Amino acid sequence: MKLYQRNFLLILFIAFGSIFGWLIFISNSSPTKNLSIIASSIHPIARKLIEDKTETLSNDLIVASPVKQPIVIDSKNVDPLAESRSVSKPKRIRSITCKINGEYKINCLKLMSGKETSVYIPFSFIHKYFEIGGKIVNQKSQDEYFEWNHSYSKIFYPDQPYDPADVFLWFGNYNVEFRDRVKCISAIDNVPLSTQWYPAGHLYPTQICQYGLSHFNKNLTSAPSERIQLINDGIVSDFHVDHNFIVDFKKNYLIVKDSRIDLKNNHTNYLIGQLDMKLIGNASITFVMFNIQTQQISYVLYSTIDDVIVIDTEDNQITYGLGSKAFKRGWFHFTRDLLVDLYKGYFISDRKRNNYYVSYIQIDGTVYIKNLALKTSAHEEFAMAAGDWLMRNQNAQGGWRIQVDRKLSKGLLVIKKGWHSAMAQGHAISLLTRLYRATNNTKYLETAKKALNIFEIESYKNGVKAILFDKYIWYEEYPTVPSIFVLNGFIYSLFGLYDLSKACNDQICQKSSQFYDEGIRSLESALSLYDSGSGSFYDLRHLSLGIAPNLARWDYHSTHINQLLYLYTITRNDLFKTVADRWIAYMKGHRSSHN
Ligand SMILES: *[C@@H]1O[C@H](CO)[C@@H](O)[C@H](O)[C@H]1NC(C)=O
Ligand SMILES: *[C@@H]1O[C@H](CO)[C@@H](O)[C@H](O)[C@H]1NC(C)=O
Ligand SMILES: *[C@@H]1O[C@H](CO)[C@@H](O)[C@H](O)[C@H]1NC(C)=O
Ligand SMILES: *[C@@H]1O[C@H](CO)[C@@H](O)[C@H](O)[C@H]1NC(C)=O
Ligand SMILES: *[C@@H]1O[C@H](CO)[C@@H](O)[C@H](O)[C@H]1NC(C)=O
Repeated sequence: MKLYQRNFLLILFIAFGSIFGWLIFISNSSPTKNLSIIASSIHPIARKLIEDKTETLSNDLIVASPVKQPIVIDSKNVDPLAESRSVSKPKRIRSITCKINGEYKINCLKLMSGKETSVYIPFSFIHKYFEIGGKIVNQKSQDEYFEWNHSYSKIFYPDQPYDPADVFLWFGNYNVEFRDRVKCISAIDNVPLSTQWYPAGHLYPTQICQYGLSHFNKNLTSAPSERIQLINDGIVSDFHVDHNFIVDFKKNYLIVKDSRIDLKNNHTNYLIGQLDMKLIGNASITFVMFNIQTQQISYVLYSTIDDVIVIDTEDNQITYGLGSKAFKRGWFHFTRDLLVDLYKGYFISDRKRNNYYVSYIQIDGTVYIKNLALKTSAHEEFAMAAGDWLMRNQNAQGGWRIQVDRKLSKGLLVIKKGWHSAMAQGHAISLLTRLYRATNNTKYLETAKKALNIFEIESYKNGVKAILFDKYIWYEEYPTVPSIFVLNGFIYSLFGLYDLSKACNDQICQKSSQFYDEGIRSLESALSLYDSGSGSFYDLRHLSLGIAPNLARWDYHSTHINQLLYLYTITRNDLFKTVADRWIAYMKGHRSSHN
């Protein structure tokens, strides 16, 4: 029996001999635990069945029998079958082949107990077949239990009404720079380089905005950054100075040539390197990082090369290009998250900031330095870096072009590089209006206002505006011809339009308000088209192309829900709340009822 158990991740208990099955509850509660407490932690359909005790059942995932009480297996007992034996009658068990819809054959277990015969199906099969997640939690401990999750995704409930002057949605939960599809943060542009759709990397405006917005939120919500000042206006502190330092007290900077700055103390968690510098010819600055767990030394180097990133795995060294003309820039401000920069070399996997410190800083060539500091975070700087990139790179039409081809629907749809995205435009506005409010710098607002222009240009003319059913205006995340009406990108663009509508009172901001209202009306009319009955559709390509629908995977489904919950806080439109609630239920396996 032990052997069989080892062969199966978890076995699902289905009863025959009754049209209804049994539902087994594996939890850490004791067998005597009050039914209502157990019931509150289980699937609502199952709960209803247990409560009613008479049931009509149309659900295809969970079936329950007319049980008086769910079988609760005490996790303290190593042998769940022995435990159920003590609850009911003696059982016999043997292997049996399961034939699944004539498509698969798998090994199952057959359990016989008195008049009843039941079959256990390995969860590893259920997991793949129904795309349902499950894992054993607290393995081998007293609290061990099996956790079944229909969806792997999480809902972010708004904790306050959406406010254009405050945090942007739930984006503070994002760590954009650590995403796999971020190649690295370019030290030339100071924004992420995306490998999405183009492995060599491109500056993807949507991702750049998400990077900025996530740091904008974190600036407002996380603990203040702590700072260790190493060089302050030419005054040196907290490190050992060697003879290659030229300390000229008449100047407010330090001239450092081919030397190393040894820190007096090991400051774990201070992994933001920040300074003002001026390079005299080719020069480089290296932050030498030490991991206290693995004792590994790694080198993060910034030098006057044009490559964005060069990885030398053998020597644990990663080099970021500052551009070959960096020495022509004169003084420039430099802020880097050294851990992110190190991580993108792929020779570390540990992201715990407390496991690292900067061991020393090496200068090769000649560099003028002032205000050298190590900090624990730099959210403000990173949010501004994204905003500044947007200001520097906006085109005459007010857009940020995506410079890679985008193929959708297995190549049925292709958008040639140089396209605009309503999502990028909307995100950019959301970031820029917030930076404007935070700094009073009107350049941010001007850039945001210019971005509105793209919303007026049709998607087939390299803009983003599409029309659904010849009637409803839709802003396209991917401006394909024909239009496919991606839902999440459209809703993100509406948040941008809303933000601009509240940022000023002039004609442009009023126009933004009008675009937002039109968009909300489209959403009200079309939202139900995205409901699949057990999830949501990512877009309407089945409508435009007559092909199979494109179901939203759980993280996009939950994005839809999050967006609707936040939109509801602005509009108080019950439709958004009702749909969000129904879609949340889909994430727990509920389906809309059938005829
Ligand atoms: C999975 O289910 C458990 C308990 O039912 C819940 O606490 C957890 O948040 C769920 N995880 C996800 C990703 O939904
Ligand atoms: C957020 O930015 C402000 C400046 O706008 C700064 O004073 C503050 O320290 C920052 N907070 C965090 C947590 O980064
Ligand atoms: C800092 O760590 C190094 C090992 O990398 C060790 O040799 C040195 O003694 C430490 N210094 C302090 C001040 O703890
Ligand atoms: C910097 O180095 C490159 C190659 O190593 C060289 O071609 C270039 O002339 C150098 N520039 C200066 C200003 O020394
Ligand atoms: C921006 O201007 C407003 C109104 O003049 C003022 O209250 C606020 O302090 C200013 N904020 C900044 C960051 O300068």
